[in-house]
Amino acid sequence: MESKQDRLKHEIEYLGKLTSTSGEGCTRFSYSKEDKKAREYLHKIFEELNLEVSVDGIGNIRAKFHGEKDLPSIMIGSHIDTVKNGGKFDGVVGVMSALETIRIIKEKGIKIKRPIELIVFAEEEGSNFGVTMLGSKYLIGYLDKEDLKEIRNDKNLSAYDMIKDFGLEIEKEQKVINKEEVECMIETHVEQGGILDTKNIPVGIVDAIAGMKTCKVVVKGTSNHAGSTPMDLRQDPMTGAAEIILGVEKLAKEEALDTTVGTVGKIFSKPNSTNVIPEQVELYIDTRDVKPDGLEFMIKEINKLIKNVCRERKLVGEFIVIGENDSVILSKEIKETIEKVAEDKNYNYMKINSGAVHDAAMLAEILDVGMIFVPSINGKSHCPQELTNYEDIKKGCDLLINSVIELCNK
Ligand code: GLV
Ligand code: MN
Ligand code: MN
Repeated sequence: MESKQDRLKHEIEYLGKLTSTSGEGCTRFSYSKEDKKAREYLHKIFEELNLEVSVDGIGNIRAKFHGEKDLPSIMIGSHIDTVKNGGKFDGVVGVMSALETIRIIKEKGIKIKRPIELIVFAEEEGSNFGVTMLGSKYLIGYLDKEDLKEIRNDKNLSAYDMIKDFGLEIEKEQKVINKEEVECMIETHVEQGGILDTKNIPVGIVDAIAGMKTCKVVVKGTSNHAGSTPMDLRQDPMTGAAEIILGVEKLAKEEALDTTVGTVGKIFSKPNSTNVIPEQVELYIDTRDVKPDGLEFMIKEINKLIKNVCRERKLVGEFIVIGENDSVILSKEIKETIEKVAEDKNYNYMKINSGAVHDAAMLAEILDVGMIFVPSINGKSHCPQELTNYEDIKKGCDLLINSVIELCNK
């Protein structure tokens, strides 16, 4: 069975236009007006396809295509929210490949025993609150509505209130996903790194997904005049933060494992004035590794680093882990199913690890999970230059369709 490349392209391009930063990449945060439009567009298609649609309290959309039997379903999908000035492929490729899968199976009248459930996860990127994968964390019961009251954005608005204001029924009963209703899950995604592109391989079968820890660091010093305070009489949290940032880079690059990465991508200075030594600097560290030892090392060493820098510079440092998930090895059976399809189709493929996190990793706590990657040109993602060839997206989608048919009839 083959997907229709033109239709995939049309759908991905259509959603790409629902952005608040036209001409500067795709920005579509969960619970924004662009998200509302994207959801309306998808709901209309789901209705045309006669799918059974439900939306949970946090905004995960599930659209079910019934099979011949009332068995646990095969779940496929991804997310439609983006980072700020991101690309139009991250997440959307997985949702539109899932949609194409249902369309092809329906159009061709292929008999399937199990139902297929398309899922669109809410708030995967963590763009609103700095916590990734809120939708899938809610779906597996890792978070509940009380937790959402504590998770806040930069304007101190809680996730709970934002979700409620968006019109979702956050008070409704939280149904945690289980093996009786869903058999397994497959997410198709852009690689977001340059391995497939460099090797000119059109599809990847994901072996493992990296674990991740997101940390908030607050460095407090003494605010004072930038002109009249001598250099040796300062307690400047900005220079302390700079030393911490460089320290994180050094740890990840030279001291942790060769699979470890560490990034500081967000920083706030208070009061953020040119002529004032700041009173406080807040920075966010994102560290990841497919190997748990690498992450453990980073957390231990970052803690030490902050203590040392603050002691030497007479600053006060606070460090908390605000988000975390473990690395996961994906299902052997699903990997083999996808591999067999790739061989039958004679598509060149390779096994690959994911440095990015995905909702699939959360679901792996409960279900068997698989992932299919398609190349990111020049390894670019989370930026306006994010690009994937539609020929490759088609091939990834072909793997999904045929794997789903196989798994549905098992
Ligand atoms: C999500 O895309 C992440 O890996 O941060
Ligand atoms: Mn993604
Ligand atoms: Mn992303």
